[in-house]
Amino acid sequence: MAMLLMTPKSKGDAWVKHLRAQDPGLDLRVWPETGPADEIEFILCWKHPLGELKKFRNLKCIASLGFGVDHILRDPDVPPGVPIARLVDASMIHAMSEYILTAVLYHTRRFDLFQQDTSQRKWQACRPLHPQNVRVGIMGLGHLGVDAAQKLRLLGFQVSGWSRTVKHVEGLPSWAGPDALEEFLAQADVLVCLLPLTRETQGILDRRTFARLPAGAYIINAARGEHLVEEDLLTALDSGHLSGACLDVFREEPLPESHPFWDHPRITITPHSASLTDPKTVAPQLVENYRRVRSGLAPLHVIDIQKGY
Ligand code: NAP
Ligand code: GLV
Repeated sequence: MAMLLMTPKSKGDAWVKHLRAQDPGLDLRVWPETGPADEIEFILCWKHPLGELKKFRNLKCIASLGFGVDHILRDPDVPPGVPIARLVDASMIHAMSEYILTAVLYHTRRFDLFQQDTSQRKWQACRPLHPQNVRVGIMGLGHLGVDAAQKLRLLGFQVSGWSRTVKHVEGLPSWAGPDALEEFLAQADVLVCLLPLTRETQGILDRRTFARLPAGAYIINAARGEHLVEEDLLTALDSGHLSGACLDVFREEPLPESHPFWDHPRITITPHSASLTDPKTVAPQLVENYRRVRSGLAPLHVIDIQKGY
């Protein structure tokens, strides 16, 4: 039985080092040097070449090298019945919360305005928005959304959430399902997207969603680029209905040089860096899952393929 790593070549060495540190005897192959395809029973992947997975007929698990699994599920040839495992990692959850806190504070402490003034050498004091008066709405109350919500509450923000099924998180008012979306949006001065990318959530940050937000609302998208309808964001910013946006993820990554977001004065761009996978911290759970599968146990953190997350 062998493990196969399918990841961009530039990242391969760190993965090999940290996986081998967990188990020096690991039979680890690095794509495209797979050896006989029938020996591969466990694949680790991040944005693998589509269509490749179907070549491995003895697969027992496909493990994402990220929290999201959309990069796996977009392959029409994912072998049916093979469990797909995602990562769950405390340091990545912490990193995402730090990112969300930074983005919210960047907006409420008016750093977005100061940045624009700096480029014009303009000295213009401006009062910050007080957390008690800012309602932050978080779309997605999973591993990332709940932690970010709790940390924002500690800073004094009014935080609420929206999920697919009803949640009961202490001190966190929340709404669930499409019928409750409008009510949730109506009270979100800052809208944070931490949803998985699925058929239901694709394009959810669109003109209808923006229209339901209070005037002057701010958007933070740290989930996936395909959640956002880019033209609708530009229209809502240019009309003045939205006050700004902080975006970590894009439909096309790297964001093309000619993309209008780069020059937009009210868009802050970060290069898909909100919460990066660190091979060192996640290698233990990947190797543990490999061991589980080898001993006939179900892998941990398996996603529901029907739900898409
Ligand atoms: P998770 O634990 O699976 O939680 C997902 C949340 O979204 C759940 O609360 C779920 O509702 C909700 N949800 C799913 N579909 C929904 C729908 N149709 N309507 C309303 N709510 C819906 O996911 P996570 O670990 O928090 O990660 C979320 C996403 O963040 C990942 O999938 C990935 O794309 C992205 N991410 C980005 C970065 C980055 O660096 N930018 C890093 C890591 C992750 P239920 O609770 O009711 O199931
Ligand atoms: C990053 O985008 C992840 O899904 O972990």
